[in-house]
Amino acid sequence: MLFSLQVKGYKSIIAGFKVLTKVLPVPKPTLFTGPGSSLELCVSMAHMDTKKVLIVTDKVLVEIGLLKPLLAKLDSLNVAYVIYDGILPDPTNVQVDAGLSILERHRCDAVLAFGGGSSMDAAKLISARATNKKTVEQLQGVLKVRKACLPLYVIPTTAGTGSEVSVGAVVSDPNTHKKSLVIDPKLVPKMAALDGALMTGLPPMITAATGMDALTHAIESYVSVLASEETDGYALAATRLIMENLPKAVEQGDDVDVRQAMAMGSFYAGLSMTKASLGYVHAISHSFGAKYRTPHGIGNALVLPHVLDYSKPAVAERLAKLAEVSGLDVANKSDSDAAQLFIDRIREMLESFGLSTTLDLLKREDIPELAKAALKEAHYNYPVPLYMDQRTCEGVIGKMLVG
Ligand SMILES: [Fe+2]
Repeated sequence: MLFSLQVKGYKSIIAGFKVLTKVLPVPKPTLFTGPGSSLELCVSMAHMDTKKVLIVTDKVLVEIGLLKPLLAKLDSLNVAYVIYDGILPDPTNVQVDAGLSILERHRCDAVLAFGGGSSMDAAKLISARATNKKTVEQLQGVLKVRKACLPLYVIPTTAGTGSEVSVGAVVSDPNTHKKSLVIDPKLVPKMAALDGALMTGLPPMITAATGMDALTHAIESYVSVLASEETDGYALAATRLIMENLPKAVEQGDDVDVRQAMAMGSFYAGLSMTKASLGYVHAISHSFGAKYRTPHGIGNALVLPHVLDYSKPAVAERLAKLAEVSGLDVANKSDSDAAQLFIDRIREMLESFGLSTTLDLLKREDIPELAKAALKEAHYNYPVPLYMDQRTCEGVIGKMLVG
């Protein structure tokens, strides 16, 4: 009885989000796609009269020389640049502040993210801080970015996060590792380049984990109660592309066409997620990230089949549609059977990638605290199709124990 009253409250929060997403315009970045498109983006940055750009990236990408063609292009266009390569996985406010002080010292007039979700999220916050007199803490929450950000350009080098199109940026507390969200349409980049040629060197495990993150965005937004005709189109396109191409990208990483298809799939999933949001997979995965430092994509991959098992009775028809666009044989099958085919296919893919559906570090005594954190995040933010109470969530997480 108490839980059903609570669910009424959670649903009214989501109803508020529904109104907000209808009245609040969400911009889309100008998009460049295809091998070499990252260099086209540089040309457009020059058209925008960019004088000096802060490039936000990580040391690995600098060391392997992935930036070199881009830097040569900027030189040829007389666009000056400064490189900040201090971004680590799960970027912190300390990293954002360090990037901002370089930007201010060199009087940069634009920010270019070159990397995965961490570099893009940090670049979003650097460009927001550059024009708003607010700390990262003061930007946390919804619609706290008052002024337009410094022009932000992004070149993702992984296909997963969707940050190139999303209204959000995630920042971690350096001490507690707790993640916080900054959500504002002003964080959507001005331009993005989806250049599959930059992704051919990505190792198989990172390809698999980031690809599973993108797939989770597509699935969670498709079964969301905020899903619409528009988001359905993007989520189905993303699922089709990712289910077909992710196994190939893991197996044959140097295939540019496959990498390009994954980049597009991740982008479409990001578009769907931006309006229809996420669900319990992300909430539980975030609680693992905070407690055990489980990387985001690996956390989502391990949680995804368990949450789908739980949600299936409420969303069998939707999962059956995802099975169909994934090329599975759904002819003459009930929605429930087709949905099960889809969940089974995900488990098969995870096994072939060497990704587990259990978590070595997970301890039984930690489960109540993990469930509490996940439910707090989910129930105040995500339009989930079937609510869980504390005991149910503990049961779902319990299935991820080893043995
Ligand atoms: Fe994600």
